Amino acid sequence: MSERFPVPPRIQERALINRWEEYSRLYRESLENRDDFWATQARLFLTWDRDFSQTSSCDYRTGTIEWFSDGQLNVSKNCIDRHLVSRGEKPAILWEGNELGERKTITYRELHSEVCRFANMLTNLGVSKGDRVIIYLPMIPELAYSMLACARIGAVHSVVFAGFSAESLGNRIEDCQAKVVITANEGLRGPKTIPLKSICDEAVLDAQSVKAVVVVRRTSNRTEMKSGRDFWSEELLATASPECAPVVLDAEDPLFILYTSGSTGKPKGLVHTQAGYLLYTAFTHKFVFDYHEDDIYCCVADCGWITGHSYIVYGPLANGATTVMFESTPTYPDPGRYWEMIDRLGVTSFYTAPTAIRALEKEGEIWPEKYSLESLRILGSVGEPINEDAWLWYYNHVGHRRCTIVDTWWQTETGGILISPLPGVTETKPGSATFPLFGIDPVLIDDNGKEVSTTPGKGRLCIRDSWPGQSRTVFGDHDRFFDTYFREIPGMYLTGDAAERDSDGYFWIRGRVDDVLNVSGHRLGTAEIESAIDHCELVVEAAVVGIPHEVKGTGIYAFCIASREIRSVEEAEFEVKNTVRKVIGPFAAPDHVQFVTGLPKTRSGKIMRRILRKIASGDLESLGDISTLADSAVVEEIVSGRKR
Ligand code: WT7
Repeated sequence: MSERFPVPPRIQERALINRWEEYSRLYRESLENRDDFWATQARLFLTWDRDFSQTSSCDYRTGTIEWFSDGQLNVSKNCIDRHLVSRGEKPAILWEGNELGERKTITYRELHSEVCRFANMLTNLGVSKGDRVIIYLPMIPELAYSMLACARIGAVHSVVFAGFSAESLGNRIEDCQAKVVITANEGLRGPKTIPLKSICDEAVLDAQSVKAVVVVRRTSNRTEMKSGRDFWSEELLATASPECAPVVLDAEDPLFILYTSGSTGKPKGLVHTQAGYLLYTAFTHKFVFDYHEDDIYCCVADCGWITGHSYIVYGPLANGATTVMFESTPTYPDPGRYWEMIDRLGVTSFYTAPTAIRALEKEGEIWPEKYSLESLRILGSVGEPINEDAWLWYYNHVGHRRCTIVDTWWQTETGGILISPLPGVTETKPGSATFPLFGIDPVLIDDNGKEVSTTPGKGRLCIRDSWPGQSRTVFGDHDRFFDTYFREIPGMYLTGDAAERDSDGYFWIRGRVDDVLNVSGHRLGTAEIESAIDHCELVVEAAVVGIPHEVKGTGIYAFCIASREIRSVEEAEFEVKNTVRKVIGPFAAPDHVQFVTGLPKTRSGKIMRRILRKIASGDLESLGDISTLADSAVVEEIVSGRKR
């Protein structure tokens, strides 16, 4: 069993919860009296326009989930207005632009005016309660303003990561029938410029629902504008009032839709609602990051993913925190970028993904060594299992052995963190997300669908009963929501991950059990990548598997059958990669493409991915005797042509 790291004394001294007995007692109570527990928290954390009388009403037999349903409130009021009296001049957002030295401080008072102006702008464009607004922006303050402006008027936002292609963007616009799209003329990511507006033009070409495209000017380059449809935000905002009364909403009105990949079909638009989501993100932000009023909290995720929604915008702002918004990349202009920023801003909590830690580890200790990093207390990790090596590097070279690492396990569907250490109480083990948070009851299910009651034990990770941050449905397809998460194991939420509980009760997340890949912390379905490759006229059939990758965690390996004779293999491989870049986005491009003449299949015609996975990872010994396979010749050919 791996080494345990005790709670650093200086972290324990200050912590909100600093005795293990306190955690266990509260945890027990939270499960025994779930509704009482959350009702108390809901009144502590949120400001209600109308109090609720019923705490929860959930039924996993139909996938019905409701929290505080007769309560009313406004999320933007909770994130902004209620702080104005005591925190008006406090920085709400510290924006770090792409170029070193490019920055902006936005106080709560300024955030209030900006969000009101954005809200009025949307109203002037005809957006009202329940309408969907797609946000396709780089990590600039306008992204947060847009999200909060939607929340203010009851519109439902759907942020699309600015690395997605025109086709992916178009599919999302179509699926949610967006009325308005907010984008920027261009995006900046390190040395690269991304033509967001022209990507958007392509995406909205056939979109009947889109009445207006709002363009934020990020660069001074020339931009094509279609008259009557496209508007510069600066022009619309010039006449928008900086006052806008927040609309009173029901707790279960939708707040946003966020698309995420699954094992089959097109990405699902997961719906999160107002009160439960806000409560859960605020609550977990406070306890997992041991949040105190004078902290400088910094999560370097992108708002295009759930981490940015919950732990850059909603959770921290609901708590009145100062939250950093980072536009650049970890290595621009050099691999000291994060560490420089931490020293300059005095960051106390820093939250990133294992893939970034591994990339920076490769650049060497000389980068963090240039900086003191002494303001840091809590270091967070999210998105994929963190390997021991990366954990130790983070702990030693960034945290200087005096910070707590919180390895936070959760999902787009869960809204917020479910399993994580608590800084003041949990002894950590590198690579383990440790223990469930309050109100969360993780269960392991074996291959027969039975609960694993032994410790140690392993199985498919499920969660018994609901928590307020849980996603409520798939937009426009509740059956799909039910089928994906609740049908197979009655009474449980099925996470799609495998996990182990060790003899000390620590949870270790072992990765996905379905055909979902976690590439640099980005979730991609193998089926989604395969159908993207189908767009390439050179390919008749493709099979995609994940392989271990030093930095990305999981790399993408594509086996393709060519539609005709290939003259240049390099060109053909490039074609395939480029097709995926265009159809999904650059981050989904395969690392390896191998052309084959056939794929191993079962008698019923299903591709034998298990075999392909082994070949792609070079795990050839465990293939066993190839000659016994139906497709032995195919397998031999694939083995001999393997890319590495
Ligand atoms: C999947 C969810 C949660 C926000 C970012 C990703 C994997 C997430 C961990 C962790 C091991 C993790 C799981 C999960 N995952 N955090 N700390 N340890 N695995 O959200 O895109 O919805 O992906 O990410 O496989 O199911 P997402």
